[in-house]
Amino acid sequence: MLHQKKILLGISGGIAAYKCAHLVRLLIKEGAEVKVVMTKSAGDFITPKTLSVLSKNEVILDFFDANNNWNNHVHLGEWADVFLIAPLTANTLSKMANGACDNILLAAYLSCKTKTIVAPAMDLDMYKHASTLQNIEKIISYGTIIIPAETGELASGLIGEGRMAEPENIIKFLNNHLSASLPLYQKKVMVNAGPTYEAIDPVRFIGNRSSGKMGIALADAFAQMGAEVTLVLGPSALLPQNKSIKVLRIESAEELFEICTQLFKDCNIAVCSAAVADYKPKELIINKIKKNSEELNLELIKTKDTLGQLGKLKKDQCLIGFALETNDLEDYASQKLKNKNLDIIIANSAIEKGSGFAVNTNKVTIIDKHNKITNFELKDKSVVAKDIVNYIIEFIK
Ligand code: CTP
Repeated sequence: MLHQKKILLGISGGIAAYKCAHLVRLLIKEGAEVKVVMTKSAGDFITPKTLSVLSKNEVILDFFDANNNWNNHVHLGEWADVFLIAPLTANTLSKMANGACDNILLAAYLSCKTKTIVAPAMDLDMYKHASTLQNIEKIISYGTIIIPAETGELASGLIGEGRMAEPENIIKFLNNHLSASLPLYQKKVMVNAGPTYEAIDPVRFIGNRSSGKMGIALADAFAQMGAEVTLVLGPSALLPQNKSIKVLRIESAEELFEICTQLFKDCNIAVCSAAVADYKPKELIINKIKKNSEELNLELIKTKDTLGQLGKLKKDQCLIGFALETNDLEDYASQKLKNKNLDIIIANSAIEKGSGFAVNTNKVTIIDKHNKITNFELKDKSVVAKDIVNYIIEFIK
């Protein structure tokens, strides 16, 4: 969920500030863009240089930078999708609660229209103090969201509540918070994508030209809508952008079948976009085939139909398949929709210019089980993926 999100990280001066190096790394790993604004005393616990290197951005320390240029706090707030303040000390909390503005972090808070999420960190008794509790209530009433402090050993040596939430837990909190308002929040989605390789001997295989692009774009589009996505991916050189997507690699139609039928039980939505080989060699030849005859005949047998099997296993899942055809697109696709017990089928042409395998664009027709047929224009696969996901969201409503 943090993928491509802009996070303004405000750091106030508490010992937990040292954990911000790790926090920034985790945010960057999740695909977020990070800018740091920190108070002067935060600099006693972690250096701006460390944070600047890790965030890949200059750290904002004051209203004016070293060249006497004004750091515009309003722009900072406008830039951010989320203003995360971690650690939030009792001092900065009190100033936030009372509208004080004697540093750039506070100025950014006061002018920020986006969500502010704070992770308090203070000693046991400070955290329990009536004034702290009152200040927390106050900033909640202004719309600020609190990541509760955790219990454990504190810098003072005391043990109790007051530790800043661990960076991993802050990331979890942010992910949950950002996805909670999205239409596919808590929905489990499985997407399969890419070609399959059917081994002939240890060095050769039967494959196809699928790049996996369409299915990978779909996985990204589902994750963007808050879904928990597992991508079962054949031999493709590409990977999804969204780091929250769980990728399981497979090679053959048999492996695809095994994994997908397992995952399907716990799915809400399953999309089969993989270009599965329809036939595989009847027997795997153990040693490399030598070139000692003029002709070579391979006996092939049908692979297992994963999508067909999911259609048989289907309970309340929404099941979506693809149909890649060279002719009679709608007729063949409608037949597959019925035969494989699907809810939706995405029909695309293998021969139309700009459609099908190994290109960046696609032109699809969506047919659902109520015989509704919707045609889409030729678009980039990432946009097609969004169209498909939006269609599915409306369909499952
Ligand atoms: N599919 C599958 N397992 C197979 C073959 C296909 O899961 N062994 C799935 C594909 O992922 C796709 C759908 O079935 O979602 C339709 O695939 P397609 O190749 O268009 O059709 P087939 O069912 O293979 O039939 P045909 O090749 O005769 O058109």
